[in-house]
Amino acid sequence: MLFVPFCGCIIRGVTLFKPKVLRFESLPSTNTELARLASEGAAEGLAIVADEQTAGRGRLQRAWSSPKGAGLYFSILLRPSIPTEHWPLITFMAALAAGDALNETTGLHTDIKWPNDLLSNERKICGILAEAIETPAGRAVIVGIGINLTQNATPAELSNVATSVSEATGQQPDRETILAALLRALPRWYSLLHEPAGREKIVAAWCGRSSYATGKFVQVSNGDEVWQGTTCGVEHDGALRLGTASGEIKVVRAGDVYSVRPSS
Ligand code: BTN
Repeated sequence: MLFVPFCGCIIRGVTLFKPKVLRFESLPSTNTELARLASEGAAEGLAIVADEQTAGRGRLQRAWSSPKGAGLYFSILLRPSIPTEHWPLITFMAALAAGDALNETTGLHTDIKWPNDLLSNERKICGILAEAIETPAGRAVIVGIGINLTQNATPAELSNVATSVSEATGQQPDRETILAALLRALPRWYSLLHEPAGREKIVAAWCGRSSYATGKFVQVSNGDEVWQGTTCGVEHDGALRLGTASGEIKVVRAGDVYSVRPSS
């Protein structure tokens, strides 16, 4: 897998927003607080960073451990003007932006596990929670990004599946430097999403950075059902294509993916 950083020259259009950041010492969840501000009319590009979250939330109703100073806990408000069927690609562009920020500031080359977990050495270093909300100014998306900066970010029992920037690089990361890079990367990828052919470029960039995009034998669970198969690319809206033993292609739109060894 080749890690191709975003090339700014791809973008011909204009930057759609300039982020404005609000900082908090402690919040239940940056996503929840930003959703509240969005319902009061906050503008696209408003972002929140907290030193800690007391009720951080992850995908699939999970908690996101957020001890003080151990992670980057960040949310940004987007008001996309693309058709809603393309909104799933917002998580793809967020994963690409977070990958750029980590690569630019720490040299890390992260893998992407579908749909949008960033991995380093096959362990999770960053999670993304994108939530669509209704506001008086129209539908909006809150994109929450959690980056594990130190090993304190995650409980010890998750050390086999989670890692941190400090563990992966052997150096103490600077939250502000990573945040600044993220605030540069997000508007670039978001603008691309709004360009003609931008979606295809985002899907191609995502596939280029994900060892899970093709040829990976995985187990996928959506809470009710479990499937096994070999990944064979993603649909134009980011859904995962899974080739099953019966020869059919299963299209997965939500769930957890685990790499497994095929039984011989
Ligand atoms: C996941 O991988 O399950 C997604 C984790 C997303 C965590 C971030 S931290 C900042 C923002 N606020 C939240 O409550 N969650 C997201």
